[in-house]
Amino acid sequence: MTQQLQITKARTLKEKPEVAGIPFGSYFTDHMFSMDYSAELGWHDASIIPYAPIEVSPSAQALHYGQTVFEGLKAYNVDGDVTLFRPAENFKRLNRSLERLSMPKIDEEFALRALTELLKLEHDWVPDGEGQALYVRPFVFANEPYLGVRPAKNYKMLIVLSPVAGYYGAQLNPTSIFVEDSYVRAVRGGVGEVKFGGNYAASLHAQQKAADLGYEQVLWLDGVHQEYVEEVGSMNIFFVRNGELVTPELNGSILPGITRKSLIELARGMDYTVNEERIHIKDIEEGIKDGSVTEVFGAGTAAVIAPVGIMNIHGTDYRINGNEIGEVTQKLYDKLTGIQTCELEDKYGWVHQ
Ligand code: COI
Repeated sequence: MTQQLQITKARTLKEKPEVAGIPFGSYFTDHMFSMDYSAELGWHDASIIPYAPIEVSPSAQALHYGQTVFEGLKAYNVDGDVTLFRPAENFKRLNRSLERLSMPKIDEEFALRALTELLKLEHDWVPDGEGQALYVRPFVFANEPYLGVRPAKNYKMLIVLSPVAGYYGAQLNPTSIFVEDSYVRAVRGGVGEVKFGGNYAASLHAQQKAADLGYEQVLWLDGVHQEYVEEVGSMNIFFVRNGELVTPELNGSILPGITRKSLIELARGMDYTVNEERIHIKDIEEGIKDGSVTEVFGAGTAAVIAPVGIMNIHGTDYRINGNEIGEVTQKLYDKLTGIQTCELEDKYGWVHQ
């Protein structure tokens, strides 16, 4: 790609916060990446600029019809060097999301190069505490001022950076989940398998319902039968059943998580059998009752792994593994975070310097 990257540095720099104390995604660094798209020029004006509010027309299409997609990945501080975990996968998925929402695709290699330049400028922001990282949020939205319903002609891509500790505070505390059987997250043929902002907006009502009932997360069932397990909160879900891992197969309504994919590869490399299949919630309930389902956890970029300690299935609370972190969950967490932070050998070539 022949695009130039302009860099304008901030005149004053912010004070860096104590990362351990800040809620996920609430504090942003000094600079951001910005790039514009128009039907005439394609993607242009790629630049790194001071992080600041941007001007958006009240008629911008994203505000009305929701053409907006995003990604999330983490940069780690490894003895002063900055590493990313499988970033090419994120830009590949961003392009799949853009295509599904009739938005213009980006040059994946250029985006990664731009992110690398941004991180060079912001390397002092990458925290080095246990479980901490610099969360990278690339996103694209339609900013053409127009109220007709059709794909916009103008878009903006930004990448903002946020120092984070664990998504749920203390990293590996078991969460409680509520199996939702009236609201659904996505259906096959819809947009559930891409990282579209509206998926997250649509999940909030059920998330609030679960919170009101005293649970931390929603377990989503399929949108047609409301019988098959799909995702948990904004994460993919895994079960340990008879010592094997099992996770819902990608069926067109489940997000193909990069953490999900990495865990499947890692677990197979650790000699676990991993099954990707259609999972009936009744089979999980039976499995918990007869002791064959011993561990449950969510997997996503933000939380990495979130063990499930309590599961409410159709009105009954079940305790999983005595509400403690399971052995397989812990092993996978240690292995994946060990590779991400370069404490363990990365024989897969996932870590990007
Ligand atoms: C992830 O962990 O992969 C997510 O998408 C969570 C994010 C929406 C905060």
